[in-house]
Amino acid sequence: MSDIVIKNAKQIEGIRNSSRLAASALDFVEEYIRPGISSGFLDQKIEGFIISHGATPATKGYNGYPKSSCISLNEVVCHGIPSEKIILKEGDILNIDITTILNGYYGDTSRMFMVGEVSPAALNLVEVTKHCLDLGIMQVFPGNYFGNIGFVINRYAKSKGYSVVYEYCGHGVGLQFHEAPQVDHAARRNSGELMRPGMTFTIEPMINAGRASTVIDKKDGWTARTADNKLSAQFEHTVLVTNSGFEVLTDIHEEYSHI
Ligand code: MF3
Ligand code: CO
Ligand code: CO
Repeated sequence: MSDIVIKNAKQIEGIRNSSRLAASALDFVEEYIRPGISSGFLDQKIEGFIISHGATPATKGYNGYPKSSCISLNEVVCHGIPSEKIILKEGDILNIDITTILNGYYGDTSRMFMVGEVSPAALNLVEVTKHCLDLGIMQVFPGNYFGNIGFVINRYAKSKGYSVVYEYCGHGVGLQFHEAPQVDHAARRNSGELMRPGMTFTIEPMINAGRASTVIDKKDGWTARTADNKLSAQFEHTVLVTNSGFEVLTDIHEEYSHI
């Protein structure tokens, strides 16, 4: 028996509201991104925004994680801890990942930002990673296998000469931060469980310019870097399986509403 929770209409509405708030927080913080600003300052802005909208940052205190967002620069794959000591500079690429709890419901989203002009190599990695997320989202419909999300992402990333992080995955989300199933971003075609209407989960591919493997910072116990110190990028949306396909719950820009 599958342990993936099917959400009812009331729960979906709550998860949608939280998801939209998390995405709004990314829009809000974008205005502050410029050379010389610290990731710790951005985190403070995010925390203020979330709390002023009656929500809570899900990461703060989660398994001892200390901050209200994850901010991962350049070779950091994920779980970068915001700090006043980490100063943005021209040419940096960074992922900001925000998870909100609003009325008990979780929404989880991240995207890449670029500081001023970035290298063509960095821009290409960011663009390919966004397309990986979009390809994964297009595999969301009732009766499809979860494995097909990772199958199409891995096939495309490899065709561009990149590698897919396998040590961190997408996840069911909504009533809790991390629920079943685990959503692999590199998977075999037609593997895993079947999608059913009412399931809510994230797709959040991390794509590396070099090798796939990662190393966790020994001092802070969180920051995950590429083992070869090459660039990494990530985008994340929270999605709902509908009767006919998908709804991207964190899509406040109606980027996917025409599909
Ligand atoms: N938001 C991350 C995700 O997409 C999880 C961060 S957990 C933390 O799953 F503890 F590192 F904050
Ligand atoms: Co997530
Ligand atoms: Co996230």
